Amino acid sequence: MNPTLRDVALALLLECAPDRKAAGALALDLDLPVDSARVITEPPGIPGRPDRPLVVPHAQIRQRSVGTVEGRAALVHAIAHIELNAIDLALDAVWRFDGLPDAFYRDWAGVAREEALHFTLLRDHLRGLGFAYGDFPAHAALWEMAERTRGDVLARIALVPRTLEARGLDASPAVKAKLLGAGDAAGAAIIDRILHDEVGHVAIGNRWYRWLCERAGLDPVATYAELVVRHDAPRLRAPFNLDARRAAGFTDEELDRLG
Ligand SMILES: [Fe+2]
Ligand SMILES: [Fe+2]
Repeated sequence: MNPTLRDVALALLLECAPDRKAAGALALDLDLPVDSARVITEPPGIPGRPDRPLVVPHAQIRQRSVGTVEGRAALVHAIAHIELNAIDLALDAVWRFDGLPDAFYRDWAGVAREEALHFTLLRDHLRGLGFAYGDFPAHAALWEMAERTRGDVLARIALVPRTLEARGLDASPAVKAKLLGAGDAAGAAIIDRILHDEVGHVAIGNRWYRWLCERAGLDPVATYAELVVRHDAPRLRAPFNLDARRAAGFTDEELDRLG
């Protein structure tokens, strides 16, 4: 039997080598059959990860000045690590949850492709600075949210794209300013490209979140507040990128609640 989109996504999620994972995700064929009805048993080894970078608790990541090439490389590395995690998070949404419309799987497969592009751009930029992905320690905070929401697609969509990826929208202007301040116009241009695509990812998250809420007869705003508490999601902190959040489909009520 030919592999389905969900099979291919799972195989890429299990891939340990970042370069092979990213190349495979970039080449994902969104027109493959989905087979949404099949319940797939979780195999061991999710997500496939390389030996390096060393994964350490979030608090142990040293903040460096971007005034040195090494400090700038550490910043680019940190974002590359987020993008590698983002490939895994999107692939996980493709294989894990059964019984959704085909468009759900194709949307997240398309997101995985864009995350792979982001990782590739940053990895190559890092090489230009004389470093490789894996050269700095990194943290596991993003995948932890995937673990906590593995059994609940509504919680996954609420707390990964609509919370963690949306935080990326907020963080983007400061990262871009840092790179520009260090004279790294090429790095800043990559951040612009990523922000543009991430608005789309959060918009896809918002669309499916509302679809899932409607199907379950739930109020999106009240349900989000409950899910944040139930899964101990990170609390959002200002400054918020309200323009990007609005473009990504958050409602005025949701934006007001950010505080
Ligand atoms: Fe991304
Ligand atoms: Fe994304």
